[in-house]
Amino acid sequence: MAKILLGVTGSIAAYRACDVARELMHGGHTVHVVMTRAATRLISPDTFAALTGNPVVVEVFDEPVPGQIAHIQLAQEADLVLIAPATAHTLARLALGLADDMLTTLALATRAPILIAPAMNPAMWSHPATQAHAETLRARGVEFVEPAYGTMACGDEGWGKLADTPVIVQAALQRLRRACDLQGVHVLITAGPTYEPIDPVRFVGNRSSGKMGYALAEAALAHGATVTLITGPTALTPPVGAQVIRVQTARQMYDAVQAHFDACEVFIAAAAVADYRPERALPRKRKRTGAEWTLRLVPNPDILASVAERKGHRLVIGFAAETDKALQHAKVKLSGKNLDLIAVNNVLEPGSGFAVDTNRLTLLYADGRIEELPMMPKRACAERIIEVVAEHLRQRRG
Ligand code: CTP
Repeated sequence: MAKILLGVTGSIAAYRACDVARELMHGGHTVHVVMTRAATRLISPDTFAALTGNPVVVEVFDEPVPGQIAHIQLAQEADLVLIAPATAHTLARLALGLADDMLTTLALATRAPILIAPAMNPAMWSHPATQAHAETLRARGVEFVEPAYGTMACGDEGWGKLADTPVIVQAALQRLRRACDLQGVHVLITAGPTYEPIDPVRFVGNRSSGKMGYALAEAALAHGATVTLITGPTALTPPVGAQVIRVQTARQMYDAVQAHFDACEVFIAAAAVADYRPERALPRKRKRTGAEWTLRLVPNPDILASVAERKGHRLVIGFAAETDKALQHAKVKLSGKNLDLIAVNNVLEPGSGFAVDTNRLTLLYADGRIEELPMMPKRACAERIIEVVAEHLRQRRG
């Protein structure tokens, strides 16, 4: 059974955390409550201590067990940090990485997944500052139980009410299940474009932003996997917890994949590898002249095909970015490259392809199944692909 850290902050809905704690304990889980100072004005720590059977901590220097540094101990032992309700102020502190009380300190010190159920006035929830903080946290892998619509204690109506208790509890239990379904599984991911130098200032490349590959790394981490992310040049911040290997060219990516493939159980090739490179990179910048310039390009190795042919028990997944006859081309790649699954998209479709946050993928499985996903955020597409990986490994292990 899991150890859940329940963070309670100073929202009028703080009393509802009692029900959340009780429900989680009914499921057999251990609950440790951590309160902010403001929350203690709304509900007594003694209530939670009596309910959970565990001491409640508020200040960083609270030490329920003498000799144990509470925030490190609690942070390391937690399987999930659930903050319900979370105020706008706490969201901001979490986004900024402040550590001015026990809850925010724990949130920094833990490697456990964090799930947040916000509760605040609708104007505060929809404020660009709050939304930006929520987005920052999402980008770090924090998940949200979205607030519900309703009338607030202050009489205002809108989105901002703490979600219903069963919704919060179900989300927490689901998050716990997901957190360990790829535990011990090593997932190797390629992401981003490759840059093939023409001279020291120019390159042949493509429009890939790396968003899909990074989202896959984030999702795999959220399921408890060990992740190695081999990335071409991107402007993105890699997810916390991934081993990141930065490369520039297709040949560097090829070498990095060869070096890490044997240790992985799952390989996902999301990189948009440049298929060709200039035959020779000039050592100095080529100056402008009036004359024509012909570049001779030579083929790069197919990274995915090179490892898939010796994949053994590994699950190997590819992507296909197409502009026409998408399914037809993807089917050829699926069998030609010896893949278990290929995710295909038409990059000419609006909202699907390079440098946007959404994608519309069709998954083609080696056994002939076809699964069409709706247009959705790349994070959600990544989540579905990682779910497929988890299902596949579960079936294989019986
Ligand atoms: N891929 C790779 N190495 C390459 C080219 C592609 O690993 N040199 C991988 C991509 O990461 C992707 C899959 O192969 O998972 C398909 O990539 P795509 O560019 O769509 O296909 P290509 O095989 O390059 O075919 P084409 O560009 O002709 O469509």
